[in-house]
Amino acid sequence: PGSIKPVYSRLVRPILFLLDAEFSHRLTLRILRTLYLIPGISFIVRLIWGGRTHDIGIDAMGMHFPNPVGLAAGLDKNGGNARFFSDIGFGFIELGTVTPKRQSGNPRKRLFRLPRHRALINRMGFPNIGVNHFLLRLRMAERRGIVGINIGKNASTPIDKASDDYLVALQAVYPYASYIAINISSPNTNQLRQLQKETGLDELLGILKNEQIMMGKTRHHYVPIAVKIAPDLTDDEIVTIAELVMKHKIDAVIATNTTVERTGVENELLAQESGGLSGPPLKHMSTEIIRKLYNQLQGKVPIIGVGGIETAADAWEKMVAGADLIQLYTAFVYEGPAVVRRITRGLERRVHASGCANLTDAIQKARSGIHLMR
Ligand code: FNR
Repeated sequence: PGSIKPVYSRLVRPILFLLDAEFSHRLTLRILRTLYLIPGISFIVRLIWGGRTHDIGIDAMGMHFPNPVGLAAGLDKNGGNARFFSDIGFGFIELGTVTPKRQSGNPRKRLFRLPRHRALINRMGFPNIGVNHFLLRLRMAERRGIVGINIGKNASTPIDKASDDYLVALQAVYPYASYIAINISSPNTNQLRQLQKETGLDELLGILKNEQIMMGKTRHHYVPIAVKIAPDLTDDEIVTIAELVMKHKIDAVIATNTTVERTGVENELLAQESGGLSGPPLKHMSTEIIRKLYNQLQGKVPIIGVGGIETAADAWEKMVAGADLIQLYTAFVYEGPAVVRRITRGLERRVHASGCANLTDAIQKARSGIHLMR
């Protein structure tokens, strides 16, 4: 396995990066889907990149996560590669964003690489096959592990009817999801981020919570709901969101989506492209949101930290700031599948160095250490 790891950065990435960003993304996923038709391939992938992790399991949202490193939404929008992403060692994966109806998203080009910053800018606008096709695919694929499904609204649905879309999508995915992520923070669907404002959010969360309880009763199975928020929020907005999340007993908050800011990449020509910026330039913004959110939630609601994580040190920083679990997307594009194991191994080393028995204790210890220093 050791000799296979650099293959991505030495061989695969240079070829992929010669091609258009979205084209190479789609090509890679298609090749992987084809490879997965070969019997035994899943076993081989697990042998190379997967494998067991030790002492870094996390309990959150009523589930046990074998490790805290998750795949962020948007990479596998249609769920066609769920098996591959579970096999390479992610502790959980989040598929989508999926919308009630199929839609093609924004006109191309809509995905840009900023290699000097190991960042991406995207304005995809939720291209996806629609929730019914999505579920058909998911049902056919043999899957393992924790699979979250991220839902959104169609671009054609007016914003004051947004809750209808979320309701339809929630009802459809409920039987198939380990948890459901409510995406109200993509910068690429007109007015979507308005749903983070107090009145709209209060109403939306109320409607979705109600449906979750009803479906939980009829199906005898409770599926947690997580809300995904933007990094571009004021302190007051964070306080409001935290209050509403607790009021409606939402099960988790995912922080954060991409940013519309361009801090740190101002000198890049592509920085003028509209859309959401991801990768290292987003890292500290999202960590600060997590820290503020954690101050409000006080551990009562778990936080999934996401934004610019490339290493175990980045993951650790997010967890000490308040995240229970973490996710990544952009680092996968730059580093390939080996990034997952590098982070989980690094976290294991940190747990052992801390003298604690497990990751939860080690993080708790690191958090209280920081409080003492202040
Ligand atoms: C995303 N992201 C995203 N998020 C979401 O909730 N639904 C989606 O459909 C998408 N789509 C998407 C496409 C592309 C090309 C990128 C780069 C990102 C956001 C993603 O899940 C994550 O929140 C951010 O990218 C920040 O994490 P990283 O990429 O810095 O690790």
